[in-house]
Amino acid sequence: MSDSRPIGLFDSGVGGLTVLDAVARRLPSEDLLYLGDTARLPYGTKSRETVRRYALRAVSLLLERDVKALVVACNTATALALDAIRDRSPVPVLGVIEPGAEAAVEAARETDPKHGAGLPVAILATEATVASDAYGAAIRCLDPGRRVLHVACPLFVPLAEEGWTGNEVARAVAAIYLEPVAVSGAKVVVLGCTHYPLLKATITAALPPGTRLIDSADSTARALVALLSPISRKDASGRGETHLLVTDASDRLRRVAARFLGREAAALELVDLP
Ligand code: DGL
Repeated sequence: MSDSRPIGLFDSGVGGLTVLDAVARRLPSEDLLYLGDTARLPYGTKSRETVRRYALRAVSLLLERDVKALVVACNTATALALDAIRDRSPVPVLGVIEPGAEAAVEAARETDPKHGAGLPVAILATEATVASDAYGAAIRCLDPGRRVLHVACPLFVPLAEEGWTGNEVARAVAAIYLEPVAVSGAKVVVLGCTHYPLLKATITAALPPGTRLIDSADSTARALVALLSPISRKDASGRGETHLLVTDASDRLRRVAARFLGREAAALELVDLP
C-alpha cells in the first residue's frame, strides 16, 4: 500500500521554498504542491486575526487539491494559526516551530551543558511571531528552565527578497539587530523566519564565533519523514514532481523565487483565494 497524493506546503510567499527544498531532499520521490500567498505577503507585520484568515483560506485550497499532509512552511502562520489549521484539517499538519524548537533545545543542551549558567536561546523572527511567544512556549515546554530572547528583525525580509544578503546594508542592519543577542551570551540562535536562511553568512559574521544557527527547514523535513507513516509514503521509485502555486505572479516574484530556490523556478500557477 502507498499513497501517491502530494504533500501540501504553504507559506506567505516564497520564503517557504527553503523548507520545500529540504523536504524534496529528504523525500525525493514525493510529489510536492507548494502555495505561496504572494498577493498578501508579508504576514509578519499583520494582526493575528488577519493571518489566521489568510492561512485558513490558503490551506482550504491545498485540501481541495487533495494533499495527504500539510506543512505550514511559514513561521508567522505557524505561530498564529497552527491550532486553527489543525482543527479544520482532515490530514496531518506540521508547522515549523516545534521542529525548530526541538533542534534549538538539543543544541543548547550540547553547547551549555551546565544549563544553570542560564544562557538564553535567541529567536530571530517577524514581529508577529515574536509577539506570539510561540517559540518561547515550545522551548519552555521541552526545557522548562531555558531563557528565551526574542528579537524581531523585520528588515531581513525585504533584504532577502532584494538579494541584499551580504552587502554593507545587510551587515549594518544585522549588527544593529544582533547586538542584544551578542550581549546576552546566547550560543544558539534560531532563524525563526523562512527568509532568514538567505542571510545566514551575514548573521553568522555579526555574532560571536561558535554561535550555532538553527534553520528549521531541515528539522521540519526530518519531522515530516517521521509523521508520514509507511503507508502514507509514495512508492519509492521515481522522482517526485513539484508544483508551485502563487496568488500573485510578477516578474519580480519569479526573480525572488529563483533566488530562494537557487535555480529557475518551475512554471508558477496563478490561483485566487476566495
Ligand atoms: N514567511 C514568513 C515567516 O516565516 C516571513 C515573511 C512574512 O512576513 O510573510 O515568518
